[in-house]
Amino acid sequence: MHEEKLKQFYERRLTAEAGGGEDKIDSQHSKGKLTARERINLLLDPNSFNELDKFVTHRSDDPELKKFYGDGLITGFGTVNGRQVFVYVYDFTVLGGSLGEMAGKKVSKVMSLAMKVGCPVIGILDSGGARIQEGVSSLDSYGDIFLKNALASGVVPQITASIGPCAGGAVYSPAMTDFVIMVENVGQMFVTGPEVVKQVLSQDVSFDELGGAKTHATKSGVAHLIAKDEIDCMDKIKTLLSYIPQNNREEPALVTDNTDDFNRVDQKLVSILPENPYHPYDIKEVISKIVDDGVFFEIHELFAENIVVGFARMGGRSVGLIANQPLLLAGALDIHSSVKAARFIRFCDSFNIPIITLVDTPGYLPGADQEHNGIIRHGSKLLFAYCEATVPKITCIIGKAYGGAYIAMGSKNLGTDVNYAWPTAEIAVLGPEAAITIMHRKNLKNSPDAAEIKKNLAKEYRNKFANPYIAAERGTIDLVIDPMETRPMIINALNVLSSKKENRPWKKHGNINL
Ligand code: HXC
Repeated sequence: MHEEKLKQFYERRLTAEAGGGEDKIDSQHSKGKLTARERINLLLDPNSFNELDKFVTHRSDDPELKKFYGDGLITGFGTVNGRQVFVYVYDFTVLGGSLGEMAGKKVSKVMSLAMKVGCPVIGILDSGGARIQEGVSSLDSYGDIFLKNALASGVVPQITASIGPCAGGAVYSPAMTDFVIMVENVGQMFVTGPEVVKQVLSQDVSFDELGGAKTHATKSGVAHLIAKDEIDCMDKIKTLLSYIPQNNREEPALVTDNTDDFNRVDQKLVSILPENPYHPYDIKEVISKIVDDGVFFEIHELFAENIVVGFARMGGRSVGLIANQPLLLAGALDIHSSVKAARFIRFCDSFNIPIITLVDTPGYLPGADQEHNGIIRHGSKLLFAYCEATVPKITCIIGKAYGGAYIAMGSKNLGTDVNYAWPTAEIAVLGPEAAITIMHRKNLKNSPDAAEIKKNLAKEYRNKFANPYIAAERGTIDLVIDPMETRPMIINALNVLSSKKENRPWKKHGNINL
């Protein structure tokens, strides 16, 4: 009797684990993609996966819609490098990984559990979107998931990977999560596919051009990270997790087996900065010299490259770094860079990750294009994000910090805790050339030696205004520091700020200028 029941159970389990069947699995492999179960094995620690809802099936009364155990989605919990996570992994071999009523309930269930338990949720997407046969029930399921994404936001970290097509509703849920990773040549994200684009707009566009990994990493900013293959994708998820805590009430893990000397000074640091402030240099060289072991995990590497954001450790503590990149647009702030940095700051603040800002920017990018596309609206997000953040905030101005960009890049008055400047810092309302043109317009206009006079005035201006000492006299710069000591100075500040508590007036939520 028991034997028969067990036999049936084993059969059912095997059926569930076979997904859409051998043909579909072969087809999945022939597209260069792993199956959902293979992906889980790659992501989670060996034998750590505990599946939930394995025997769920759809409840549609469409007789032509075949039932599959699991309903095109594998969910459960397991560990990544020993840390508990919940996962939902779309199974493209079953009805194209499309999401119906019951599959949607599975996703919502693990998200609710993750919030109760307080651990990250990782979603792997490979899906045709809302299941057409289940109509409004599929749409309702997406609504449920979006609600869970919003409720979980800022409570537990949410990471999603696109490893296959993600159409319709399958893109908005990832977009509501903290980080989206796309696998090159495999991941595709689009609200409406190329066929619809052709029908509606008569435009020919390939899947990859429309919504491939490169497109979303460089143009739209939807993808925070791109991976060269599925192994790289899972590695990137693991690395990302290592910098972030389990939930909003925990701190990121402190790395105690650090071999990089906390007091390490670097005499060459200042020489990265060109003598001529108009010459470009790579801010990532500065970053790699001050962080532990030179390891920097960059986010949004190919999007809005005029600002650099990412994670690193300093003195074993996880930090979020934001730095202007003089290699592109001279490090000026524009729409995309403001939004990119603002979102990163808000993530760090949600999950107790201190924010380190390195400043070298000539200001907000001028021009009709920027104004018309909303630099005022988008640029204000950066201000808002810095003001809102209550985690430890440390800023170091190393070069130019002019006008609004000086204020925006973590200035003291936005609530930054410790503000340093190198002796090379230039803090002023305007850059020398712009300031002189305004202050001496009449004289310069009538002078035959305008160029020479301008040069001399610029020198004078730089000496008089464009330095860190006026700000240091007023205490908005706490200390002008020797560049070589940047690493120990920041680590010491991080240590003292580790017990920082900052309370703000009660509110439902702020109204950031979306
Ligand atoms: C039901 C679906 C499906 C869907 C795919 N399939 N998408 N079944 N509902 N949404 C099924 C296919 O019929 C096929 O079944 C199997 O999955 C594999 O699909 P193929 O087309 O053979 O695979 P491929 O050539 O790789 O193309 C994948 C694809 C394409 C690009 C995802 O299937 C596609 O364009 N699907 C529709 C995408 C879409 O428009 N979705 C609805 C979006 S609207 P068989 O039985 O033949 O193997 C939406 C609303 C929510 O999501 C909006 C919220 C804001």
